[in-house]
Amino acid sequence: MSSTGLPASRSTPAAPKSVHRNPGASESARLNGRVEADDAPPVITVSKLRVEREAVILDGIEWAVKRGQHWVILGANGSGKTSLLSTLTGYMPPSAGEISVLGETYGRTDWRELRKRVGIVSSSVHQLVEGHQTPLNTIIGGRHAIIGMWGDVRPSERAEAEKLLQQVEAVTIRDRPWRVLSQGERQRVLIGRALMAHPELLILDEPCAGLDPVAREHFLQFVARLAKTRHAPTLILVTHHVEEIIPVFSHVLLLRKGGVLAAGAKGKVLTSRLLSHAFDASVELRHQRGRYSIMVSASVGAVI
Ligand SMILES: Nc1ncnc2c1ncn2[C@@H]1O[C@H](COP(=O)(O)OP(=O)(O)OP(=O)(O)O)[C@@H](O)[C@H]1O
Ligand SMILES: [Mg+2]
Repeated sequence: MSSTGLPASRSTPAAPKSVHRNPGASESARLNGRVEADDAPPVITVSKLRVEREAVILDGIEWAVKRGQHWVILGANGSGKTSLLSTLTGYMPPSAGEISVLGETYGRTDWRELRKRVGIVSSSVHQLVEGHQTPLNTIIGGRHAIIGMWGDVRPSERAEAEKLLQQVEAVTIRDRPWRVLSQGERQRVLIGRALMAHPELLILDEPCAGLDPVAREHFLQFVARLAKTRHAPTLILVTHHVEEIIPVFSHVLLLRKGGVLAAGAKGKVLTSRLLSHAFDASVELRHQRGRYSIMVSASVGAVI
C-alpha cells in the first residue's frame, strides 16, 4: 500500500474492497492492463455505429475494448468524443449499428441497470453537486447513483466511503464544502464517487480540463496508481492532449469528424502523420521517457 492509501503495485496482496468488483477480470487485467490476451473478455464492442440528429454526428464507428486494456479517446473539438460516450452510456440513442458494453447488448437489456456498472467523471457531473455537499457525502451518494446524500447512511457504506476518501487522497478535505474545493480536488472526489458503485468501466471525460500543469500531473499519477490496483476498472480517458497519455494507457481511438481515423495499440496510432490528419494541422509528435508531446506548426492564414 502506498502512503496515499492506494495499493502501490500489482504485487500488492490485497486491494481495498471498494475497487474490487470486476467479475470477468482476466489474468491480463490483473497484470496491470499492459498485457492482454486475445481471448480477454470484451468490455465494449461497437459495430457500424451511426448517430444522426439534424446532422450526422457519428458514422461507421468500429471499436472493440478488451479487459486488460485502458484506452484514450483523442480527437479535435467536435470530432465526436463526448457523443460516442453518451451513446455508449445510453444518453444519446444510436440511429444504427450495434453496441455492447460489459456483455450487455444495447436494445436487448435495461441500459439503466448497465449504467450502474459504469462510472463517469465529467464536467456535467460537477455542475450537479450542490455547493454545501462534502466530499464524504458526495462519495457516499455514488452508491445509489445520486448526487449528495439525504437520509440515513449505513455504517458499512460510511466505512467504505472513508476508505475511498483515502484512495482518492481526499481525507484532509473530507468535510469541506464542494463550493470551495479546487478543480483537482473535485475531480478526485468524483472518482471516489464513481468507485463507490464498484464500476467495471470508468470513463473520464476531459478530467484534466481546468487543472494547472502541476495539479494535472498529480491527477494523472493518481490515475496511474488507480489503474495498478488489483481489479481496477477498465479506464477510458477522453482528451485533446497527448501529454495526458500516461503509460498505463495501452490503446488509442483517434476520432475525426465523427469517424474513426485509427484505433489500436498506442504505439501504432500515435504518429505525427495520424495526429496531423486528426487535427488538420502539421503536427510533430515527440515521445520521451514514456510521455508524449506535440509541436503544432502555425499555418498561414489560420483563423481562430
Ligand atoms: N444532440 C445533438 N444534436 C446535433 N448535433 C450535436 C448533438 N450533440 C452533439 N452534436 C454535434 O456533434 C459534434 C460532436 O460533438 P461532441 O460533443 O461529441 O464533440 P467532442 O469531440 O466531445 O468535442 P470537444 O472536444 O469540444 O468536447 C459537434 O459538432 C456537435 O455540435
Ligand atoms: Mg467533448
